[in-house]
Formats: sequence, C-alpha cells, structure tokens
Amino acid sequence: MAIRTVGVVGCGLMGAGIAETMARGQYNVIVREINAEVLQRGLERLQQSMATAVAREKMSQWDADAAWARIRGITDLEDMAECDLVIEAAVENLDLKREVFAALDRITPAHAILASNTSSLSIAAIAAATRPERRDKVIGMHFFNPVPVMKLVEIIRSVVTSDETFATIRDLSVGLGKEVVVAKDYPGFIVNLLLIPYLLDAVRALELGIASQEDIDKGIQLGLNHPMGPLTLLDFVGLDTTLFIADAMFAETGDARYAAPPLLRRMVSVGLNGRKVGRGFYEYGKK
Ligand code: 3HC
Repeated sequence: MAIRTVGVVGCGLMGAGIAETMARGQYNVIVREINAEVLQRGLERLQQSMATAVAREKMSQWDADAAWARIRGITDLEDMAECDLVIEAAVENLDLKREVFAALDRITPAHAILASNTSSLSIAAIAAATRPERRDKVIGMHFFNPVPVMKLVEIIRSVVTSDETFATIRDLSVGLGKEVVVAKDYPGFIVNLLLIPYLLDAVRALELGIASQEDIDKGIQLGLNHPMGPLTLLDFVGLDTTLFIADAMFAETGDARYAAPPLLRRMVSVGLNGRKVGRGFYEYGKK
C-alpha cells in the first residue's frame, strides 16, 4: 500500500523525532499536540534537531527546509483524516492510547495503518479499542531516542496484525534507513525487556550506596564500552517515561525485576525527570 501522509500523535521527545524522521524520509507529516503551546515547543525541538543535523553535515539546509515544509502541526485529532499511517507517540498510558486509537479508527480512512510507539504496552489491548475490521492494521513501531540518529525500529505484531500491514511497516522502516527487529507482543518486547531491569538496577545500586552516581556511570561506560552510563541514559530517556514503562511491565507480569525502586519514584514525584527538564540525576543547561 502506498503511504504518502503520516500522522504523528504527540510531539514530545519521541513524537518530534518520529515526525522529523518521516519528513526527512519524504513523507508529508501531520503532527498533533494537545495545545498550541506544547505543539510550538515540540516543533522548536524538531527544528533544533534538524539544525544540528545540518551543522553536522548530515543533511543540507535545502533538504532541511524541504523537510520542514512537509510538516504541519495540528491540535485537533480530527485533522488526521487524510493520513495513510498514524504513529501514536503519546505518554505510556493504556487508557489514553486506547482513547486515541478509538478516535483515529473513526477519523482515518479504512486503509490507514495505526501504529503505536509504545515501549511496553500490549498491541492487542490497544488494537481492541478499534473496530474489528481495523485490528489487522494495528501494529507496534517502537523507535529509539534520538530517533533521527538511532538505527533501530522494533516492530511488534499482535496476534491479529496482518502480513500485509507488517510488510508495509517493515518496508517503510527500511526505506527510512532503519534496521528492523521483530518482536512478539510481550511486555517490553526485546529492548525494554532487557533495558528496564538494567536501568532499575542502576538506581538500586545508587540507593544501596554501592557507588557514587558518577562511578556507576563510569563503570558501565568504560567497563562495557556503552555510549552512556545507565543513570545518564535514564536522564536521557526521561525518569518519568522509564517509570511509566516499568510500572506497565510490572502491572502485567508481576515480575519483581520491573518493580521501580523508591528513589526513582520519589525523583519523578518532584519532577526530576531528566535532561528534558534540566535536572534528573545530573543537572543540564537551562531548557
Ligand atoms: N540528525 C542526524 N544525525 C545527528 C543528529 C541529528 N539531529 N544529531 C547528531 N547526529 C549524529 C552526529 O553527527 C554523529 O554522527 P557521526 O558519528 O557520524 O559523527 C552521531 O549522530 C552521534 O552524535 P554526537 O556526536 O552528537 O553525540 P555522541 O557521539 O555523544 O552520541 C548519542 C549521542 C547518539 C545520543 C549517544 O550518546 C548514544 O547512543 N546514547 C545512547 C542512546 C540510547 O541508548 N538510546 C535509546 C534509549 S531507549 C529508548 O529510546 C526506548 C524507550 O522505549 C525507552
């Protein structure tokens, strides 16, 4: 199926990155946020990321301008009526995602594929919010932050996702220059199944006073050659986002590996959500 116009629900860290990646991949993009102010912030983040790409000579100014011209910001979901594909990148909350999918099912044309960038929630549970005749067109399309830079798209098929939907999303992802892995509809899929316990263990190590936060990060970064230590990565992903994912995985599996340590919960309670707000485990320049 030919996809020309891609809707992106949410213009936060992930939504902005997905919108940028789609526009750079020649798609017309319609990106939606809940109000004009939040939308403006998201679009500024997107422009900043493209400016970085131009400064690093990853793309020309001409291509950046052309990509920008393909992006339209909206605040009303009803304006997604012309989308062939919508990628939802709202917060990690099943009820909210189900509301969005029920609305998108009503608004978008019958051929449209509805994808979720969920990090851990069940694609089948999200699909169940749509009418039975849409459910084979619901799929998981999990991107990684920063989306324009990270090579991977994790594709998740629910038990009723069709071969045609899967093939369309796989080919589109490869066309964007991404590598694809395919996972079963199981909490955390591949990457977060392994990443979340690791990040939570790093917080537990700090909580237990095993080492300073700098040494926990340095130990992993230099000892395992990771680009970032786990606490820096938590700041990068967002402590709130990580907590949402951990709680969702714990709720579904009851597995203690996903039980969030109190320190993480307390930091989120007071808004220390990481780099995007200027402070998490570390402090960052004013955002
Ligand atoms: N567009 C295109 N390219 C860009 C760019 C942009 N907006 N911004 C930077 N780049 C390029 C740079 O030019 C550079 O390319 P080069 O290697 O060819 O020179 C490359 O990207 C790396 O950028 P930088 O030099 O600025 O920075 P670093 O080398 O410090 O890398 C990083 C930054 C890529 C963020 C690296 O630290 C990293 O990989 N960190 C780990 C990120 C990670 O694990 N992400 C996944 C999080 S989990 C997730 O998202 C899933 C969720 O469900 C939890």
